[in-house]
Amino acid sequence: MAKPSNSTKPTKSRATKSRTKKPGAARGKRAGYWRTAANSDRHELYELAVQEVVSECDFIDKTWRKLRGRLASTLREDFCGTAKACTEWARRRKDNHAVGVDLDESVILWGEHRHRSNLPESISSRITILQADVMAVETPKVETIVAMNFSYFIFKKRETLVKYFRRVHESLADDGLFFCDAYGGSEAHSEVEEERHLDGFTYVWDQNKYNPITGDVVNHIHFRFPDGSEMKRAFTYEWRLYSLPEIQDMLREAGFENVTIYWEGTNHKTGEGNGVFKPSTKGEACAGWIAYLVAEKKTGGRIARKVGGTANRARR
Ligand SMILES: C[S@@+](CC[C@H](N)C(=O)[O-])C[C@H]1O[C@@H](n2cnc3c(N)ncnc32)[C@H](O)[C@@H]1O
Repeated sequence: MAKPSNSTKPTKSRATKSRTKKPGAARGKRAGYWRTAANSDRHELYELAVQEVVSECDFIDKTWRKLRGRLASTLREDFCGTAKACTEWARRRKDNHAVGVDLDESVILWGEHRHRSNLPESISSRITILQADVMAVETPKVETIVAMNFSYFIFKKRETLVKYFRRVHESLADDGLFFCDAYGGSEAHSEVEEERHLDGFTYVWDQNKYNPITGDVVNHIHFRFPDGSEMKRAFTYEWRLYSLPEIQDMLREAGFENVTIYWEGTNHKTGEGNGVFKPSTKGEACAGWIAYLVAEKKTGGRIARKVGGTANRARR
C-alpha cells in the first residue's frame, strides 16, 4: 500500500507507526454531515483508511515495466474483499481484465453495489468476482496475482502457506509476477493501539494479542467518531506474523525463481518512510515497517520479452 506511495497507504501505516504515517486530517464534518458509528459503513471506512489501490496498481505497472519491459493486462486479486483493486485495474486500460476471489459473499455484494454497478459495461464486463477459497479456486492463467494487506497471514501453518503459494505459482503465466506485502519491526511484536485521524473519523489499528511462541497475532480495526461513538472491532484478523526471510523461503519452496523485497526509503527530515519502495537486500531495524514482495514465476532472462508490446500475455 502505497509503497508505491506508502505514505498514503493506510495499510502500511496500520503497522508503521514510526515510519509511514499519514498526516492527521480534519476530524470533523464531512460533506455536510458528521460521521457517527450509527451512520457509517465499515467497508467504506476500511477503504478510506486502509486501501490505496491506485498507487498499488501504479506499483504493479512500474514493476512490470522494469522486470518485463511491458505492462500486464490480466490480474487476479486474491482475498479481494470489496474488489476495489479489480475495479481500478479494469478501469486503467481497455485491454485489462481482473478476477477477484473472496470467500465472503457479503463483502463481494457490497463491492458489487458500491463499485461495479456504477461502472460502464465496457469496464464492468472485464471484471469477474468469484466467491471461492483461494486454496481451491481455478482460474485461467493470469500475468499478475496480488494478495494485499497481509491477507495470506491467515494461513498459520507453514505447509498451508506454501500450498497457497504453490497454487498462486500454478495460476500464473510463465512470466507472471506475484505481489504481496508484509509488515514487521519491533512494534509489530507489541500489544499496542495506533490511532490515525482521518477525514471525519479516527482509524484505530489495535494489535491486541501477540504470542511469541507461535507468532500468532489478533489485530482489530476500530473506528471512532467526533461525537464519541465508536465502531468497535469493525474488523478482526487472526494471523500468524511471518518474517520476511520466512516468506521468501516459502515462495522459493513453492517454485518461484526469484523473490525481491521492495523496502521503503526514509524521509530524512521526518525520519519516517517516504513512500518510495525500491528493491533491497538490506533493511533497517526500525520500529515499524511495511514492505512489498514481488515473486517471479520465472526470471526475466528465460522469458522472451517484447518491449512495449503484448508478447507472452496470458490468454483468458
Ligand atoms: C484483510 S481483508 C483484505 C481485503 C483487500 N484485499 C485489501 O487489500 O484490503 C481479507 C479478506 O480475505 C477474505 N478471505 C479470508 N480467507 C480467504 C480464503 N481462504 N479465500 C478467499 N478469501 C478469503 C476475507 O473474506 C476478507 O474479505
